[in-house]
Amino acid sequence: MAAVNREAAPASQEAGRDVGSDGPGWRYAPAPEARDIVSIEPEYGLFVSGAFRPAADGRTFATINPATEEPLAKVAEAGPADVDAAVAAARSAHEEVWGPMRGSERAKYLYRIARQLQERAREFAVLESLDNGKPIKESRDVDIPLAAAHFFYYAGWADKLEYAGFGPDPRPLGVAGQVIPWNFPLLMAAWKLAPALAAGNTCVLKPAETTPLTALLLAEVCQQAGLPPGVVNVITGAGGTGAALVSHPGVNKVAFTGSTEVGKEIARAVAGTDKKLTLELGGKAANIVFDDAPIEQAVEGIVNGIFFNQGHVCCAGSRLLVQESVADAVVERLQRRLATLRLGDPLDKNTDIGAINSAQQLVKISELAQSGEAEGARRWSPPCQLPDRGYWFPPTVFTGVSQSHRIAREEIFGPVLSVLTFRTPDEAVAKANNTPYGLSAGIWTDKGSRILWLAQRLRAGVVWANTYNRFDPASPFGGYQESGYGREGGRHGLAAYLDV
Ligand code: NAI
Ligand code: MG
Repeated sequence: MAAVNREAAPASQEAGRDVGSDGPGWRYAPAPEARDIVSIEPEYGLFVSGAFRPAADGRTFATINPATEEPLAKVAEAGPADVDAAVAAARSAHEEVWGPMRGSERAKYLYRIARQLQERAREFAVLESLDNGKPIKESRDVDIPLAAAHFFYYAGWADKLEYAGFGPDPRPLGVAGQVIPWNFPLLMAAWKLAPALAAGNTCVLKPAETTPLTALLLAEVCQQAGLPPGVVNVITGAGGTGAALVSHPGVNKVAFTGSTEVGKEIARAVAGTDKKLTLELGGKAANIVFDDAPIEQAVEGIVNGIFFNQGHVCCAGSRLLVQESVADAVVERLQRRLATLRLGDPLDKNTDIGAINSAQQLVKISELAQSGEAEGARRWSPPCQLPDRGYWFPPTVFTGVSQSHRIAREEIFGPVLSVLTFRTPDEAVAKANNTPYGLSAGIWTDKGSRILWLAQRLRAGVVWANTYNRFDPASPFGGYQESGYGREGGRHGLAAYLDV
């Protein structure tokens, strides 16, 4: 498909400016990233056994740019025969090539993929922002560098598995079936593929149906890196394709990131088989601000916690718990800060808030926000002009939220913050832990002792102190309760792909 220039997207161009009226009021000139670094094909096949091919029954679906609703490409929809073929390709690659290969040899391929991701970083970043709707500064500075870092990190483990603490000769599991979501498409692919490959497994990856393009470009990078055919297979499709993959008898290990609802379905599908399973599901994290916190920094952390990636983040700090004595001051400064955020064209380097990923997700966010009003919370957004086309939601803050409100309990997965207050540290712990989830939490305070005291009591897999949403391939990530089980990242992430 020919590159579409900015003139073709007046709606998003129009909105590439500050959303507020009481911010500094600067007008930023548009600073668009060049779209023509990416050439999008009209149609993409499935990546099976090292080559691209159409689905056996010829079915396709469209992926669109959520900022403009413009169709980007048609993508093959894998049916049962394609899932069979991909699993068979992964099986023979595992038995004949990848399993027997020395770890130091596997590492070379992973390093090569990592370097290719760096070399083609701009291309990946633009493609990710087009297919997903996220601001280019996030895909450029977070998603793509972290994806490359994951491959570098696990490349380093490939020849050191016997020193990883899992016994003298840890064995791979075989074929991994991996299903990933749309919020960090390439990064989630890297989180799944890099440890699996380092440990000697082969993979069948299914990207989300709204964001398949960077996984397919990664497949091209695998070709470029000379990865033996069948070691990585990418099959595109929707939930049905994912269900066929996870229940396929030829799969030894299932890894899933996505909604808690689908996670539970997958747990049922895998129960009673000898497949190993890791689930990384939803969250409703508390971001806890004490009265001794550095308020300006905390406000930046709150903004980063919930408005990064339009709030499409499983570990988003979606519940702000703020100590009562500073609550008014914090909310006031937060509102002033939000009035300076710029919402609009994801490819504009000034944009802070991009598009909501899909019409379906926009409906979910809107519906939950309405429930907040209906249940009596106060809704606030900065003055904000939304583009006419595409899927958009303004940054939104609810105050006067009580723990029973749906917006305090359910994952909204959008740019919506619920503010609750507390008086004592004990009350903060009780409220933070009052959730069926347990993925992450944030603490803002001047006192190191209080950070340690709280971190021990919070039922969350990741606890950030005086920062938020920081990621590193060396540190394990995962949840408690309905946020799932198993850890990704770090040495712990290897355990999920080894027979330990
Ligand atoms: P989803 O869980 O349906 O989709 C995630 C992935 O699972 C996609 O690749 C999808 O095709 C696949 N899938 C869907 N049904 C499946 C099945 N039965 N078997 C195997 N694979 C299946 O998430 P969806 O519908 O896109 O989003 C709904 C909500 O889920 C969001 O509003 C958000 O609250 C939550 N979510 C959480 C994520 C996280 O990172 N924790 C990521 C995406 C969504
Ligand atoms: Mg898309």
